[in-house]
Amino acid sequence: MVNIGCIMKYSKYSAVIIGSGIAGLYAALKIEQQLNLSDGILVITKSKFGESNSFYAQGGIVAVMKDNKADSTASHISDTIKAGAGLSEFNTVKFISEHSDAVIKDLLKFGVEFDRDENDNFCFTREAAHSVRRILHSGGDATGRMIEKALCKKVQENENIDIYEQTSAIELIVNSKDECRGVITFNDETQEYETIYSSAVILATGGIGQLYKYTTNPAGATGDGIALAYRAGALMQDMEFVQFHPTALAIDGEEKRFLISEAVRGEGAKLCDADGVEFMAKYDERKELAPRDIVTRANFNEMLKNNTDNVYLNATCIDSQKLFRRFPTISKKCMECGIDIAHDFIPVAPAAHYFMGGIKTNLNGETSLKGLYAIGETASTGLHGANRLASNSLLECVVCAYSVAQYLKSIELKTPKQIDEDIKSLIDRYSDEDVILDELDMGALKSKLKDIMWDNVGILRSEKTILAAMEELRKLRTEFPRAYKCLNREEYEFKNMLTVSLLIAYCALLRKESRGAHYRLDYPNTKEEAMHSFITREEGVPDFVK
Ligand code: FAD
Ligand code: SIN
Repeated sequence: MVNIGCIMKYSKYSAVIIGSGIAGLYAALKIEQQLNLSDGILVITKSKFGESNSFYAQGGIVAVMKDNKADSTASHISDTIKAGAGLSEFNTVKFISEHSDAVIKDLLKFGVEFDRDENDNFCFTREAAHSVRRILHSGGDATGRMIEKALCKKVQENENIDIYEQTSAIELIVNSKDECRGVITFNDETQEYETIYSSAVILATGGIGQLYKYTTNPAGATGDGIALAYRAGALMQDMEFVQFHPTALAIDGEEKRFLISEAVRGEGAKLCDADGVEFMAKYDERKELAPRDIVTRANFNEMLKNNTDNVYLNATCIDSQKLFRRFPTISKKCMECGIDIAHDFIPVAPAAHYFMGGIKTNLNGETSLKGLYAIGETASTGLHGANRLASNSLLECVVCAYSVAQYLKSIELKTPKQIDEDIKSLIDRYSDEDVILDELDMGALKSKLKDIMWDNVGILRSEKTILAAMEELRKLRTEFPRAYKCLNREEYEFKNMLTVSLLIAYCALLRKESRGAHYRLDYPNTKEEAMHSFITREEGVPDFVK
């Protein structure tokens, strides 16, 4: 039994950004640049500053540069829409593509470097389903790390931006008029709660990979922002669309899988079985460069057919000097595992990688709740449709961070002063009483959830498997008897993982077709008309999804 603390601090900021990935950091910098905010800006992050999915991004960022004659926004828009399997929003795709040139140039001003050739021209690479080389990379295959480090430095140097580390957002403060007025946080080190008032709360909390047994995502990708926004009443979109990356390093049953970038295939590597027999031509004429959902299902199918835990990536056809220069992080990691990528096949298997669904937003980053904004992977802008095109995520993070800052410039940001009764009762849940809670075996609970999602709501799904998952998730909820207060960060995360898992399963059940990353064994065809799916706490939600 643990008696948990109930110290509640209070503060106010003109804008609060939750998350220190590329979306959150760039938003903080752009808001600071464009607005004169009397109560300042706060960036909250639940682990150490900069820890994020962004940090691990490898392949690169889409850059449709105006002076690159080989490329055009029309071509990028067309590739994005084709990969999105009919579900991408044309206006969103166009907006993001057309802002690519400006944001890349702006990133350079913030100290981000991209790899260049001996004549100082950008080196563009290619990834699956892109018709031209349009992807900028940095540090070879360390694009995320390089951008993240540069932006972290700028935010840390900026006196107008405060930073809270080890601090989780645990509840959004929404009043009776459905306006977001701030956020309640929990500091895992001090065990303190804090109520932060703000009329601009920007969720930049990233993805959901940790809901699945095998994932390329780091530990923090637990869908927190999505769960918080859902509980607060915001509209969710396309929750059934989870992207599985086809080539994560598969060794020793490791569940957190290191990514082998699609750019390795972009540079010529081939997928094959243990004997070196290539198989992609059987599945798609674009072979290794087919859209990600197709390559993932091909790998998965080969694994099922041959009863193996992985297929192989053969990069030995690439000049070894180029291989080590272009992919220093990947070759080093593989070497540590005893794989010399210039001579050995790399064992690879699919893993949960990216979430196309999330909090529905418009191009200003506005959600359905006034004062609540969402950007980056946690948002669903409609860019990616049913299947994200490689390297479009980092671009979306930056463009949407830029546009939310632009939008905030156009409205009056007054820090909320009045507290209505709804808000008071919400805060009281965390501050009024000392709650005594039993300790739970969180490792076992998390592992059960991840198995349920991987086995039943994964790369291939059916009504039978989804219903089984929902039943199991319901049982799991009874094993996690927490209403509001939890013991620690891990428990708050698990609460969110349960909420988001149920939402994914429920939306997967309702979509009776196969489209992009959502493949239903019992409904293998794609319907003629592409429709988004929506869900809110209030409408059409079974009572077990709380
Ligand atoms: P993140 O970078 O995930 O940041 C989320 C932040 O929110 C973190 O700081 C986290 O700690 C914080 N947070 C979460 N919940 C809370 C909470 N409750 N309270 C406080 N803080 C919270 N995309 C590309 O376009 N190109 C690539 O090459 C590429 N490679 C990838 C490689 C890997 C291995 C992975 C995992 C992803 C890759 N992606 C790539 C996808 C891309 O990296 C992500 O979609 C993108 O970085 C998401 O950025 P973000 O800022 O939205 O979220
Ligand atoms: C990769 O490098 O393969 C990941 C690229 C992406 O997720 O966009």
